Amino acid sequence: MTARSWDAAAYHRVSVAMDAMAAQVLERLPLDGSETVLDAGCGTGRISAKLLARLPRGRLIAVDADPEMVAIARETLPEVLRVDLLDLALPEPVDAIFSTATFHWVLDHDRLFDRLAGVLRPGGRLVAQCGGAGNIAALRTAADEVSSLPAWRSHFVDFTPPFLFADPDSTRDRLTASGFVDVECWLQPFPVASDEMPSYLETVPLGPWAQRVPSDRRAEFVAAVWDRTPGDTVDYVRLNITGRRG
Ligand SMILES: C[S@@+](CC[C@H](N)C(=O)[O-])C[C@H]1O[C@@H](n2cnc3c(N)ncnc32)[C@H](O)[C@@H]1O
Repeated sequence: MTARSWDAAAYHRVSVAMDAMAAQVLERLPLDGSETVLDAGCGTGRISAKLLARLPRGRLIAVDADPEMVAIARETLPEVLRVDLLDLALPEPVDAIFSTATFHWVLDHDRLFDRLAGVLRPGGRLVAQCGGAGNIAALRTAADEVSSLPAWRSHFVDFTPPFLFADPDSTRDRLTASGFVDVECWLQPFPVASDEMPSYLETVPLGPWAQRVPSDRRAEFVAAVWDRTPGDTVDYVRLNITGRRG
């Protein structure tokens, strides 16, 4: 199952702040337009639709585990499977795998990369980006500080945020062990601003914390975290991944 739940309608509205990140990842995926491509963790499908537009003679298989995300994605995409990536299997191998803003929500990267290798044809490309080492470090520090205050701490007993911000070296090693070759992994700082910062924070990077707080106090919690966060952008650090199936 997914490690967190999503407010898919809110995500669709506010995640426009992250489109620039995904656009760069899309540019790294060479396509002639006839391939079958898997979008691993399609969310509401807004980025997937841009990928689909590059496949006029091809096929896009979009996959996500969250039922609300899948329902919205099905409004615009022809083929959306509700599947946990950790259990992914397809009848035919795909030519390429694309993924944005998803792998860090999957805590078992060894199994994730094994599953991806299992559905990719030999020579097929993996082009992906997710949160990497140091991602949202300042925001996370502020969230942890606020969570430990007397006013909030009862909601955070035994709480560990459900993400894995991996580093390039361990990711390269894991991908190689799963059968990928020509693997390149690198970190990229990518500060993000939003016109709707409070709802963006609550829906995306602070979602795991906000979901622990009663709904009528989430805005207050998010404001307290943002007040303690230096600067006026979210300090994203992305882990870029490219490779081919050996
Ligand atoms: C931040 S959204 C990214 C959506 C889209 N790729 C984008 O860039 O806007 C992360 C997505 O990953 C999905 N996800 C997380 N863990 C998953 C898993 N184990 N299997 C399938 N989908 C997963 C979530 O349901 C969510 O829709």
